[in-house]
Amino acid sequence: MISLVSNSINTFRGFTRVPGDKSISHRALMIGAISVGTTDIHGLLISDDVLHTANALEEMGVNIERKSNCLWEINGVGVGGLREPNKTIDMGNSGTGARLLMGLVATHSIKVHFTGDDSLRKRPMERIATPLAQMGTRIIAQQDNKMPLTIMGTRMAVPIKYSLPVPSAQIKSAILLAGLNVPGETSVIESWRSRNHTELMLQHFGAKVKINDEFENKRIITLRGQPELEGKKITIPGDPSSAAFLIVAALITQNSEITIHDVCINPLRTGLITTLKEMGANIEIHNSRIEAGEPVADLIVRSSKLNGVVVPAERAPAMIDEYPILSVAASNAIGTTRMQGLAELRVKESDRLTAITDGLKACGVNVNTDQDDLIVTGTKNNVKGGVTVETRMDHRIAMSFLVLGLNAKNPIAIDDEKHISTSFPSFVSLMNDLGAQIRKVI
Ligand code: S3P
Repeated sequence: MISLVSNSINTFRGFTRVPGDKSISHRALMIGAISVGTTDIHGLLISDDVLHTANALEEMGVNIERKSNCLWEINGVGVGGLREPNKTIDMGNSGTGARLLMGLVATHSIKVHFTGDDSLRKRPMERIATPLAQMGTRIIAQQDNKMPLTIMGTRMAVPIKYSLPVPSAQIKSAILLAGLNVPGETSVIESWRSRNHTELMLQHFGAKVKINDEFENKRIITLRGQPELEGKKITIPGDPSSAAFLIVAALITQNSEITIHDVCINPLRTGLITTLKEMGANIEIHNSRIEAGEPVADLIVRSSKLNGVVVPAERAPAMIDEYPILSVAASNAIGTTRMQGLAELRVKESDRLTAITDGLKACGVNVNTDQDDLIVTGTKNNVKGGVTVETRMDHRIAMSFLVLGLNAKNPIAIDDEKHISTSFPSFVSLMNDLGAQIRKVI
């Protein structure tokens, strides 16, 4: 089945904004929910994943009001104030929502049943269950600690000091959110720096979070439990992982220049920009400023001749969601791009290493894997296309291949557009406003 088809274009131009950052939106809802008083959120991402988090919190007694498309108001219940939901919490496709909420409820004395869609039910939850069990929470799962599962939360939890086995902001955040309702200090030790939105937002709401990064290659984040969090007004910056599709679209198409306003440029999220610049991309960063603790800027991107590079494994946490779209840039480049250390891509919304490799091969690109490395041989703007790519319930695979179609010899279609709305519901209209030719097939 074909759902959307993307045709090649001659130019991609204009001024735009991308929707609010998904990671920060989940955190704003959750931290607002357990603060005292009112939290006003401007620019919340209104997408399926974030709406699942909002619904889940409402099921647990939090009052959330959508005042307008731009403004959401939360009346928080205070740390430890969530109540037991009457029904199973369905987190849809959202790994971040599910894992962070599992942490948040784990230290309340409530029982919460969680489930999700076919993609989420395949994803590993052991990584969250293990530290939560050390804190004293019981997790009952049917198999391999995957969803559906039940969290038997406890108010008698103990603080832990936990070394992350894999670089993951989701594990780190789940532990910190659990630590909020535990007396004493909860610490997470990370050997690879991952996005720090939870730490920044907790500090912004008044929690005591100490960061010790004096050790080489090691960072210890320590949270003092049972803080009184105070409701705040926050503005969510544009999502760099959504901006990524527009950036690569402008780079690989001719006569292109776009300006994307108000993008989050937290350095733990901008590995793609670093890599693209190494490849020769013309990307300018203007008007840098800090908003609600997060660095924000406007980006200007122009058509560029790209060269293959080696992307080191240490950079992966700062661009973990951007490998599908980087592979699209690499397919148009001159020479080979080797992306190292991508084991975590196998457990995303789909097995992204396989999804990228199969999709690019079908489009006529020479691509291989070597253990956890992905190797793409650039075609010098000569991608064949003319196929329908399987999206595997994965929004980023869907959007990446539609971008590849903008500079392919023949149109590229995707089989299912549904999951684009998990992170970027306005993707097609926003792209077409800038000159893309992405059409629905009825
Ligand atoms: C996220 C962290 C990343 C990323 C996900 C969002 C977050 O996952 O892939 O889309 O908001 O914390 P991992 O932490 O599991 O790498």
